[in-house]
Amino acid sequence: MIDVQRLEALRLLNVYPRRGLVIRRGEGVFLEDDRGERYLDMMSNYGVSILGHNHPAVTAALSEQLRTLPSLHGGFTCDVRAEAASALAARCGGGLTKVFFANSGAEANEAALKFAVLATGRKKFVAFRNGFHGKTLGALSATDGAAYRAPFEPLLWDFVFIEYGNPFGLAAIDDQTAGVIIEPIQGESGVRVPPPLFLAEVGKACSAAGAVLIVDEIQTGIGRTGRFLASSDEIPAFDIVTLGKGLAGGIPAGAVLMSEKIARAIPRKIHTSTFGGNPLAAAGILAVLSVVSEEMLSHVERLGRIFLERLRNIDADAILEVRGKGMMIGVEVGADGDEILRRLQKERVLAIPAGPGVVRFLPPYIIDENHLEIALSAFRAALSERGLRPTASIPVNGPCAAS
Ligand SMILES: Cc1ncc(COP(=O)(O)O)c(C=O)c1O
Repeated sequence: MIDVQRLEALRLLNVYPRRGLVIRRGEGVFLEDDRGERYLDMMSNYGVSILGHNHPAVTAALSEQLRTLPSLHGGFTCDVRAEAASALAARCGGGLTKVFFANSGAEANEAALKFAVLATGRKKFVAFRNGFHGKTLGALSATDGAAYRAPFEPLLWDFVFIEYGNPFGLAAIDDQTAGVIIEPIQGESGVRVPPPLFLAEVGKACSAAGAVLIVDEIQTGIGRTGRFLASSDEIPAFDIVTLGKGLAGGIPAGAVLMSEKIARAIPRKIHTSTFGGNPLAAAGILAVLSVVSEEMLSHVERLGRIFLERLRNIDADAILEVRGKGMMIGVEVGADGDEILRRLQKERVLAIPAGPGVVRFLPPYIIDENHLEIALSAFRAALSERGLRPTASIPVNGPCAAS
C-alpha cells in the first residue's frame, strides 16, 4: 500500500503545520481516518464545513449541478449564479444590493480593496493590529503580523494599523482614506471580540471621512456567531462585506457584497475571475442558504452560549480566558496550545490554534449537546494530563496561526 504521508512530504510544498492524520471521509460532525478511527470535528476545516460533512441537501445540489453544468464564464447568463447572488443579497440586507463572486476569502478581500480605491480615488487604508485578511499580496497588506509580512515588505499602498477595540485610534481615518477593513471578531489572532459599539464607531468614522467600510465576515459570516452577519446589529447600512469559507458548502468560493453606490464606481472588465461565480459554487451557495435557517442560527447562538459557559466553568489553572460568540470560541491557555491540540486529537476531538496560546473551536452548526459533552470531557482530559509547558508571552499571528 502507498504511504500517502511520505508521498505528500515528497511532493507537496511543506507550508501547512502537519496533524499527522490521514483523513479518508467525513459524515455529519465526524471525520474518519485511514484506520477507521472517528474524530469529532470541532473545527469544520477552519470554519468551512459549517453544515458538517456530506450534508444531504448540499451533496444533492452539488451532484445535480455537477451533472448539469459545473462551469460557465461570467460573460454568459446562468440561472443558479443569478439566483445565488439574489438570495445572498436578500439574506445579508443592510443595503448590499450587488455581488461579485471570487474563489476564496483572500480573493474577495483583494477585490474589496480595489473596489474601495475605485470608489474613492484614494489609496490609503486603515486596518487593525492583529487583523487577518488573507495571504495574497493585497490581503496580506491589510494583514498584521511580521511572521507573514516581513519577507515581502514593502507591501501595497499605504496601510496604517490601529488598535482593535480602541475608539481613540479612529482619528487615523481621514479624508485621504480609501477604506477601512475590519473583522467583526478577530479570528486568526485569538478570537478577540471588540467592545460593544466599536464597529458602529468605525462605521461612523468612515461615513464622516468618505471612506469605504469593508467588513471582513469571511470567518464570522453565514451564521457562525448566531447572526447571519456578525456585524449587522451595529452596521445598519454597509458599503462592502466579504464572505468566504462556508459560503458554498465546501466548494471554494468568496463573495464581495456591496452597496449600489460602490457598484456604480466599478467599470466593466476591471476586475473579473474565470472561476468566480461558477455554477457549481453557486449551487453550493443556494443549498447552504436554504439550510442555514433562522432556526439554525438560534441553535448556533444557544449552543454557543452553553459551550462558552461550560468552558468558563472548567476549573483549570491553564485556562486564562474563554472568548467568543456563537460557534466561534477561543480558549486562551497559559500553556503550550499546540500540545493541548495534540492531546485533544489523541482524545479524538479536532480543534485548531488561533495563535500559539489559544485553542479555537469552530464546530459545524449541526453539533448537539451530546457532542459538546464529548468535546468538553476531552478538553478537560487534555488539560489535566501532566507536563504542560507554561507560556510566558503569547505572540499573536505566530507561525501556528496559519490557516
Ligand atoms: C477573517 C478572514 N479573512 C480572510 C481570510 C482568508 O481566507 P482564505 O484562506 O480563503 O483566503 C481568512 C482565513 O482564515 C479569515 O479568517
